[in-house]
Amino acid sequence: VTRYFDPGYMNTVNCRSSIAFIDGEKGILEYRGYSIEELAEKSTFLEVAFLLIYGELPTIQQWKKFNKKVMTHTFHHNELRNMMKSFRYDAHPMGMFVSAMSALSTFHPEANPALAGQNCYDDPIARNKQIYRILGTAPTIAASSYRHRIGREYNSPRYGGYTENFFYMLDNLNDSDFKPHPVLVRALDVLFILHAEHELNCSTSAVRHLASANTDIYTCIAGGAAALYGPLHGGANEAVLKMLTKIGTKDNIPAFIEKVKNKEEKLMGFGHRVYKNYDPRAKIVRKVAEEVFEVCGKETLIDIAMELETIALNDPYFIEKKLYPNVDFYSGVIYKAMGFPPDFYPVLFTIPRIAGWLAHWSEFLDDKDKKIVRPRQIYTGHRKRGYELKVERD
Ligand code: CMC
Repeated sequence: VTRYFDPGYMNTVNCRSSIAFIDGEKGILEYRGYSIEELAEKSTFLEVAFLLIYGELPTIQQWKKFNKKVMTHTFHHNELRNMMKSFRYDAHPMGMFVSAMSALSTFHPEANPALAGQNCYDDPIARNKQIYRILGTAPTIAASSYRHRIGREYNSPRYGGYTENFFYMLDNLNDSDFKPHPVLVRALDVLFILHAEHELNCSTSAVRHLASANTDIYTCIAGGAAALYGPLHGGANEAVLKMLTKIGTKDNIPAFIEKVKNKEEKLMGFGHRVYKNYDPRAKIVRKVAEEVFEVCGKETLIDIAMELETIALNDPYFIEKKLYPNVDFYSGVIYKAMGFPPDFYPVLFTIPRIAGWLAHWSEFLDDKDKKIVRPRQIYTGHRKRGYELKVERD
C-alpha cells in the first residue's frame, strides 16, 4: 500500500459533498450552486441555512414551518443559563460558547447515539429537531456570553427575524419598544450568509471527524466551535483587530510589513488555503462596511486597514505568495464599528457557521461510504526497547 505524507490534508480528499463549491483560482464560492454574491444580495441567513441543510431554497410553506420551528427553539434551559452564569466575569465568550454547546448534549440524552442508540438520527423528525434546536439556541447562548462579558443580565429571546432577535438579546435594556437598526440587522444578516459555509475548512472537518465516531451533534458542534476559536481560523477577525490596534497609525505600517517579511509577525486576515487570487467574500464585506459606517460612523481603524491592504497588494512579497485579504480582514472592523468587543468576534463567526456544520453532519449521516476518520502516521519513535528501571521504588 502506498501512503502519502500530507500534513494539513493539502491533497487528501475524504468525502463527496454537494454543499459548497469553491474555485480558489477564480475566486468563486457557491452554496448548493447559488453564487455567494446573489445570495448576499437577495437572500436571508435563515433561508440560506435551509438551503445548505436541505439542498434547495424553501417554498413558502417550508419557510414558514422552518422559521417557526427555529424561532420557537430559541429559549435555553434555565439550568444552562445558571451554568453560564458560573463563569468568571471576564470569561472569553468563545470559551463560554463551546462549554454551553457541549453541555447541551447532557440536556438531550434522547438525541445522543451513545445513550439512545446508534441509529437515533435516522428518523428525520429526530434529526430535524436537533437542527431546529441548535440553530435556535446558538444565538441565545452567544448573546448570553456577550451579556456576561459586559456584566449585564441575560436577555430572553423574543420573536422577530433571526438576526433581529439576536440584536435584541444583545442590546435590549428592558425596553419593550427596543428595535435594532434595520441597516445593522441586514448588515449582520449578510455577514451571517457569507460565513455560513465553506466546505472542509478546519472546523467543518472537525465536525465531520467527530460525527464519524457517532458522537452526539451537540458535542460535534462544540468541537467545531473549538476549532473555529483558533486565531488561524475563526479567531482571525479578533486577531486582525488586535493587529490594527497594535499598528496604531498609518506611519507604522511599513515597519510592520517588514516584520511580516522577516516572519516576526503574520498579516492576520490575509492568506487562504484555497483562495489564491481573491476571497469573493472579502469583496462583499467591504461593501457591507460602508453601509455600517453610514449608520455607526467611520471606524478609525478602517484607514489603517485600507492602507495596509493597498501596501500589501502592491508588494512583490505578498504578490508572489498569493496573499490576499480574506473574509476576516474587514469583518472585525465592521464588528468594532457596531460596538462589539473583539473577543466576541469569533462568536459572531460561529453562529452562522453552525448552518454549514449541520449541513455537513446531515450529509455525513446519509453518506453510504462514511467511515470513522482514522488517518495513518509515519512512526518516528523507538522500537523494541527493553524495560529498564530508572527511578528508585519505595
Ligand atoms: N501573513 C504572512 N505570511 C503568510 C500569511 C500571512 N497571513 N499567510 C501565509 N503566509 C506565508 C507563509 O509564511 C508561507 O510562507 P513560506 O512559503 O515562505 O513558508 C506561505 O505564505 C504559505 O503559507 P501557508 O501557511 O503554508 O498557507 P496555508 O494554506 O497553510 O495557511 C492560513 C492558510 C489561512 C492559515 C494562513 O494564510 C494564515 O495564517 N493567515 C492568517 C490567519 C487568517 O487570516 N486566517 C483566516 C482564514 S479565512 C477564514 C477562515 O477560514 O476562518
